[in-house]
Amino acid sequence: MIEAYRSQGISFDSLGGRLGIDRRLSTVLGMGLWGNHVLPRLVDRALRTPEVNARRALVCAGLRGRVLEIGFGSGLNVRYYPEAVTEVLAIEPSNLAWRLAQPRIARSAYAVQRAGLDGQRLELDDESVDAVLSTYTLCSIPDIDTALAEVRRVLKPDGALHFLEHGLAPQPSVQQWQRRMQPIQWRLAGGCHLNRPIDVLIKRSGLKIDNLDLRYGSGPRWFSYLYRGRAVRP
Ligand SMILES: C[S@@+](CC[C@H](N)C(=O)[O-])C[C@H]1O[C@@H](n2cnc3c(N)ncnc32)[C@H](O)[C@@H]1O
Repeated sequence: MIEAYRSQGISFDSLGGRLGIDRRLSTVLGMGLWGNHVLPRLVDRALRTPEVNARRALVCAGLRGRVLEIGFGSGLNVRYYPEAVTEVLAIEPSNLAWRLAQPRIARSAYAVQRAGLDGQRLELDDESVDAVLSTYTLCSIPDIDTALAEVRRVLKPDGALHFLEHGLAPQPSVQQWQRRMQPIQWRLAGGCHLNRPIDVLIKRSGLKIDNLDLRYGSGPRWFSYLYRGRAVRP
């Protein structure tokens, strides 16, 4: 994942300097101890509450055939894939998250293979998957437009992106908090952006949203404005 940031010209040292964080702490908070060994475990715990799981079930409904999941994480969606899914291609940069996913993958009824490390560069043929799933991931990918262009490229015509993401809240007062909290969130949550307008970004990629549910989940409002829906490749 660090490579993805580096390719954008973002160095943890320079960012740490701007935030007043010294080089050693910057390394620990960046992709050292924190990013590699702590964060994937925290995400694995925090994102499997009954409320989040209920949303996972909703966003996975209707997936079928060959499915690409970007930001596969620790495999928390595996149990919600419908029977119509035949194969899952997982894109996940974190080796620890992938390791945490193994028991879940072992219990699944279909083949799951790690098909890449970076949603910005998919090593898949054009029009080669029936569906793409992304949950709590579009916030973390550095170049979101490139990643969504890749999603569009690999989807078959009429294939669909199923998404469950947090992002830009509608109220200016909450947006102000999202801006204030952004530097801390970016550092502590692996490059997570709090205020991406997920629906706007998806539409900009050329996909057509045919289902969108917008609401706050539980938790701080600057973190919990949720976009859940489906966008098809015309
Ligand atoms: C907040 S976690 C969500 C994990 C999982 N989707 C879930 O719902 O539990 C974000 C995930 O995106 C992954 N990620 C970060 N940058 C990525 C990239 N460039 N391409 C693909 N996945 C990425 C992280 O490693 C992490 O597993």
